[in-house]
Amino acid sequence: MKAPSWLGPRRAAALAERFGTPFYAYSSRLLRARSRALAKAFPSAAIRYAMKANANPAVLEAVRRAGLGVDTVSPWEVLLAREVGFRKKQIIYSGNMPSDDDLAAVHREGVMINLDALSSLRRYGRLAPGAKVSLRVNLDVGGGHHPHVITAGSESKFGLAPEELPEARAIAAEHKLRIVGLHQHIGSGIFELDLFLEALDPLLALLVDFPDLEFVDAGGGFGVPYRPDERPIDLEAWGRAITERFDAAARRYGRPLQLMLEPGRYVVCEAGVLVARVTTVKRTRDRVFVGTDSGMHHLIRPALYQSYHPVATYPLRERAAERLFFTGPICESGDLLAEERAMPLPEEGDLVVVGNAGAYGFAMASHYNLRARPAEVMVDGDDWRLVRAREGYRDVVRRRDVKRAK
Ligand SMILES: Cc1ncc(COP(=O)(O)O)c(C=O)c1O
Repeated sequence: MKAPSWLGPRRAAALAERFGTPFYAYSSRLLRARSRALAKAFPSAAIRYAMKANANPAVLEAVRRAGLGVDTVSPWEVLLAREVGFRKKQIIYSGNMPSDDDLAAVHREGVMINLDALSSLRRYGRLAPGAKVSLRVNLDVGGGHHPHVITAGSESKFGLAPEELPEARAIAAEHKLRIVGLHQHIGSGIFELDLFLEALDPLLALLVDFPDLEFVDAGGGFGVPYRPDERPIDLEAWGRAITERFDAAARRYGRPLQLMLEPGRYVVCEAGVLVARVTTVKRTRDRVFVGTDSGMHHLIRPALYQSYHPVATYPLRERAAERLFFTGPICESGDLLAEERAMPLPEEGDLVVVGNAGAYGFAMASHYNLRARPAEVMVDGDDWRLVRAREGYRDVVRRRDVKRAK
């Protein structure tokens, strides 16, 4: 991988010296650029950044300042969004299998609630009769970079099927809920505009059955290239095609209707890297392992989805390339950050920079094996600041009441 322009070898070494490793670094300039590109490509749409991709408050703040709202999936995401300064109207909550407590907590915050099961709708109706609500539908058209992230079809737990919609309307009527939004999200990591449009058309065809709509949310999922042979989507072409279809449907609908979109990965993926240090070089009969102080507990995507992340090592070593396996300290053979990379072998103490790690990186990090989650640093031009401190033993092991055995 080519070093990102905002985090070359010198800068990475300086941050590693200052904050230790491993750490995530984010470029606030890239965050702003991606947010603004979305706003420009979809000038009439409300863009709701899917904060599940990366909920660091500094990331949220950058996105908020660029004019985006947020898409949330849990009460605490809603709370954090409010704390960061998003207005209620800029927040949508898409609950999947929400508990009664979830529904009550989100309702208390006064944000738009988007539901995708008849049971949730019934329970929400009892809790908040007369409220506005949005429905997430599942129209059988899905896509994405891995089966785990495809969110359509009858084997998916998401969305209401078309045949459930009459009952959904009846439940809404019984509790005087006003259905003001229709929503779908077909999956994550989509590169084909045609697939997105194929899913959008049946969504727009549903409008006639819902007289009180204020918005239609076509979801997120915009693909970002990870592998060298993948190309970026033509965002402007996506903007033109989606807006055109939506505008035509809105004209037919005859009442003011807002287009909503909720990309996560597109905003933050390329604006983030994970920086680790080589701890151990180990050769087996078949493999050359580059062991680092990070791993699947910090970036689970390679283990979970067999995702490819570009990797660079600093300093550049002048030696013949070998097939390297980048791994971490976790007790699983699946603990891999990158597999079979033809690169010069780094030395112990060198830095490893894993690219495209801004989305679903720290957000999916865990304490597996009782390891701390890494620090997070925001880089803005020549400035940087720590935006989340590395965890210590007490952050991971909360039980302060444990007494040492005598
Ligand atoms: C409902 C919903 N909206 C938006 C997103 C964001 O997807 P992406 O990060 O691929 O844009 C997701 C991702 O899982 C989602 O479930």
